[in-house]
Amino acid sequence: MKQEVTSKKVFIRTLGCQMNVRDSEVIGGLLARAGYEITDDEQQADIVIFNTCSVRQMAEDRVWSAVGNAVNREKHRDSPQKAGTVPIIGITGCMANNYREAIFEKAPAVDFVVGTADIGKLPEIIKEIQKHKGSLNEKKIYETDAEFREDEIYHTGFRLDKEHAFVVISEGCENFCSYCVVPYVRGKLRSRDPEDILKEIKADVDAGISKITLLGQNVNAYHWVDKNRDSPQKPGTVPVFTFDFVKLLTMVNRISGLKEFTFVTSHPKDTSIELFKAMAELDKLRKYMHLPVQSGSDRILKMMNRRYTRENYLNLAKSYREIVRGGELTTDIIVGFPGETEKDFQDTFDLVKEAEFNAGFIFKYSPRPHTEALKLPDDVSREEKERRHALILELQKKISKKLRKKI
Ligand code: 5AD
Ligand code: SF4
Repeated sequence: MKQEVTSKKVFIRTLGCQMNVRDSEVIGGLLARAGYEITDDEQQADIVIFNTCSVRQMAEDRVWSAVGNAVNREKHRDSPQKAGTVPIIGITGCMANNYREAIFEKAPAVDFVVGTADIGKLPEIIKEIQKHKGSLNEKKIYETDAEFREDEIYHTGFRLDKEHAFVVISEGCENFCSYCVVPYVRGKLRSRDPEDILKEIKADVDAGISKITLLGQNVNAYHWVDKNRDSPQKPGTVPVFTFDFVKLLTMVNRISGLKEFTFVTSHPKDTSIELFKAMAELDKLRKYMHLPVQSGSDRILKMMNRRYTRENYLNLAKSYREIVRGGELTTDIIVGFPGETEKDFQDTFDLVKEAEFNAGFIFKYSPRPHTEALKLPDDVSREEKERRHALILELQKKISKKLRKKI
């Protein structure tokens, strides 16, 4: 006879970016509210969730092998009554949307696949899986089609860090940089209602948190429009309530009890002098900007669909340094994009020298499903990507060290 499953320990493994760190916390909050216990001991867990990233192939490869390890884990060494059991295994995050039900073929041990906008359904899904686990009706469930998240998932009050909190202000991205899988797995840009964002931050501050990071894949494209709310700024016109990024920063800065806040990740095309001025003025806003340039070659920037030139970027960086005095500037760079010549690479190298970033994250191009760049031959050899990666890394290290000494 099938036994009622009462196993409640959940382990959540986070891979990838800060957005995933927050998403794992949201998942933890939802499951804790439903009576599950969140554990940091994978060996003891009844349910193991991999909250995954698809930005580079390497991140995905790591998940496939981690799933294998979870199945073959040297199980429950100090818990004999559980010896021999395999946990319920779930995949959430970008890989869920990237592979959907095909995950079950690639990794048959996986029980559920839940997309980035579907995480609100996790408690129900896990309950359903548990109900049938080990019976003839054993189920595999996948849910990857939701377009929106319900805002209430952000309000469980579950926080892993007691001093600092990540707060999602927008989800998705519709920039379609040609190398990037994010628009295909995270969907269109959706900005959250500013009232909900401020409510979440105030609750965090009331719970003792003093530092906040505002999150969005394209954070500074934040824009809220509400046609049903009165607009005090536009008397006599059709009431439309709008709220842009700088306005949100201004409101966050006013929250009493909050000591410091910052935001990631910005796109140069949405970065304005007005934003720099706000950064200089708002006393709680950290003077820090992560502004990925990706390449210093106009030819490659165009192929990447980045919508700015090398000159635009350098001018922005210059204005930032002038207006946000003493501010830090960091970047992301991809080397070995399809067709990147030695000259293109040299342009990136020179830009790094000129912009003097405080820090840089350097990546080797990785072809991604769905993307436009996938249609181009990945023609820069692995060795050459490694050489270019090492050269920029070394240069950036020197610059970072020099700037640190100055400070
Ligand atoms: N290959 C290598 N790096 C990538 N990034 C995004 N997509 C790819 C890819 N296909 C990098 C970009 C981005 C960072 C988060 O990851 O530099 O800013
Ligand atoms: Fe990807 Fe470009 Fe959107 Fe960043 S801005 S998430 S690189 S598509």
